[in-house]
Amino acid sequence: MQIVQGKKLGTMSEDEFRQLVLDSSRVIIDVGTGDARTAYRTARENPGWLVVGLDPAWQRMSQTSVRSRRKAVKGGASNLILVNASIEMPPQELISVADELLVLMPWGKLLHGLVRGDHDIWSGLRAVAKSNATLTATVGTSIWREPVPRDIQGLPELTRPYVEEVLAGRTSQCGWKITRFQLVKGEEGAAVSSSWARRLESSSSEVLAHLAAVVTEPEQ
Ligand SMILES: C[S@@+](CC[C@H](N)C(=O)[O-])C[C@H]1O[C@@H](n2cnc3c(N)ncnc32)[C@H](O)[C@@H]1O
Repeated sequence: MQIVQGKKLGTMSEDEFRQLVLDSSRVIIDVGTGDARTAYRTARENPGWLVVGLDPAWQRMSQTSVRSRRKAVKGGASNLILVNASIEMPPQELISVADELLVLMPWGKLLHGLVRGDHDIWSGLRAVAKSNATLTATVGTSIWREPVPRDIQGLPELTRPYVEEVLAGRTSQCGWKITRFQLVKGEEGAAVSSSWARRLESSSSEVLAHLAAVVTEPEQ
């Protein structure tokens, strides 16, 4: 699969990746990892885990890649792999490897697909998940406040009734059961420490929508 190696793209063989999975106690995939700083921090704090940052905009991950390739004492994280891919077309190596999936402050196709319950996005998330995996997603709700960006117009807002009455049915068809939905004021959601979450928190009254899900079998 295509991975970021410093400022370049390179490849990692299936065998090489499989060995990293076997050597780790837990595999996390940060979907839409952006600058990959959250993935990097998670990898540094949990050296026994394998952390995969996945994003089709690979250049944004290169600074973190450079940092992660240093020696461990100088800030390196050899348990961080940054993959150039979109979640609706995950590389074969990632199929059924993740114990946990994170989606933090998505935008573009990832945001739209996540919120609308699109089959390609939720099936892609399911494809990389193990049979007992969990997913947590965080979306800043200010995107639905005036002035609503053009890209968001027509996108249903993540509210409890929408999640329970519409989204949950769609995700269950892709093998995900929504287990929790919460709206949390930015400052209370400090646990979300991604670059984008911090930008929004600093803009004061942001309310974050947290969604949690677990893998189930898809409905027939
Ligand atoms: C606002 S950034 C958030 C980055 C990071 N999670 C954070 O919180 O700092 C959203 C990211 O979602 C990625 N993205 C959009 N569509 C995607 C898709 N289909 N699959 C994977 N990532 C996607 C974008 O490339 C972008 O880097």
